[in-house]
Amino acid sequence: MSVIDALLKRNSHSRLSAPGPQDDELHLILQAGLRAPDHGRLRPWRFVVVAGDARQRLGELFAESLALRHPQADDAQLTKVRASPLRAPLIIAGLLNYQQHPKVPRGEQVAAVATALYGMSLASESIGYATMWRTGAMARDPIVISALGGAPADEVIGFLYVGSPEGPRKALPNESSNNFISHF
Ligand SMILES: Cc1cc2nc3c(=O)[nH]c(=O)nc-3n(C[C@H](O)[C@H](O)[C@H](O)COP(=O)(O)O)c2cc1C
Repeated sequence: MSVIDALLKRNSHSRLSAPGPQDDELHLILQAGLRAPDHGRLRPWRFVVVAGDARQRLGELFAESLALRHPQADDAQLTKVRASPLRAPLIIAGLLNYQQHPKVPRGEQVAAVATALYGMSLASESIGYATMWRTGAMARDPIVISALGGAPADEVIGFLYVGSPEGPRKALPNESSNNFISHF
């Protein structure tokens, strides 16, 4: 798949099943993401790979997070959130590893992490997988961030769900750049 095809045809896919990327493919995906532009080369990111049984542990963490944020959450809500990491064989949690810097504000560091995740999404698609970028309240919950190895100033910029696309792909939106572009 050409780069331009990957860019033009990328689509999120919510139904992802096994097989997920093998070790060598995962390495390629992560390496591709790390070529993201990054002001000052601060590398303001950490990526945590969650696969296999670790997805259950992530689900327990999500349930703990929900129960603490919403003590009134019922069993159905807790069960749903606990099962949510099982929606793909592999998840890459992309964390902002925020660094104080006189010239690189937080927003630029967030942009670098997001660009890296986008690169991983495109790389996944180019070798036959599909992805879905998710966040939710747990992405900003200090308990979740800390369990993933983050510091209090960090946050999860995205949980990139990666797997084999199940069912048909969504239709691409028929969108024209004319709607968003002006010439100065
Ligand atoms: C920062 C970020 C966070 C997102 N969080 C969620 C989410 O929690 N749940 C969700 O359904 N989609 C989320 N999305 C959107 C989907 O990943 C996807 O982009 C959207 O459904 C549009 O589909 P498309 O990518 O195929 O155009 C998020 C996207 C971004 C960039």
